[in-house]
Amino acid sequence: MAIQLDIVETPDKVAQKAASLVADFIQAKPNAVLGLATGSTPVPTYRRLVQMHHKNGLSLAHITTFNLDEYVGLPESHGQSYRFFMDQNLFQHIDIPPEQTHVPNGLAPDPDQECKAFESKIQSAGGVDLWLLGIGHNGHIAFNEPGSSSDSRTRLINIAPETITANSRFFDHLSQVPRQALTVGIATILEARKILLLATGKDKALAVSKAVNGPISANWPASALQHHPDCTFILDQEAASLMTFTNST
Ligand code: PGA
Repeated sequence: MAIQLDIVETPDKVAQKAASLVADFIQAKPNAVLGLATGSTPVPTYRRLVQMHHKNGLSLAHITTFNLDEYVGLPESHGQSYRFFMDQNLFQHIDIPPEQTHVPNGLAPDPDQECKAFESKIQSAGGVDLWLLGIGHNGHIAFNEPGSSSDSRTRLINIAPETITANSRFFDHLSQVPRQALTVGIATILEARKILLLATGKDKALAVSKAVNGPISANWPASALQHHPDCTFILDQEAASLMTFTNST
């Protein structure tokens, strides 16, 4: 199965496209279950969704959300926790009741139990309709670092050194970046009925090309998305620049 490609000129157009796809999806299914991602890439998409809520009357009151991952050891109130990120960048600015938003608890006393409970909550909600993803420079999706198998489930994982370095830009010092995370698994992501992966910038081009053109391999975890029947990558031209074929719209 091929990953579908939607290549646009700029990061801003990636956000425009992603936000309007998500908004259309919610309008068609107001009680949709959405999977969400953190990171720099989806921020402009969230900003547009917030604008659509305020200016165009888009209601997100009946959706349920599940986030991909959370750092172990950071309280929700920490400025770099993914719960804090989601509240700041999206949830506080829309009409979703907080109890309909789910981010793994990085302070759970029993991480394995927390991961099992997270999977159960996704199942109880009826599964994820649409999962929005980013991609790491090393091809990770969520914190499924290289070596993660395509049947992996929500679990505690050691964050790869290159990801710790990449994420240190958000912390005062490299030593402050948590070394572990709770992450949904690749199998968890593959169960979503639809997947949209966003990537922008030259520094993502290698990971994107390995995911789209490469063999399916745990060395490039995003390549597992080739198994999915309805997965689209929305890319700017720079992120698409190393692919061996294009299919732009
Ligand atoms: P980024 O992170 O959007 O900040 O580049 C993506 C990721 O690591 O999955």
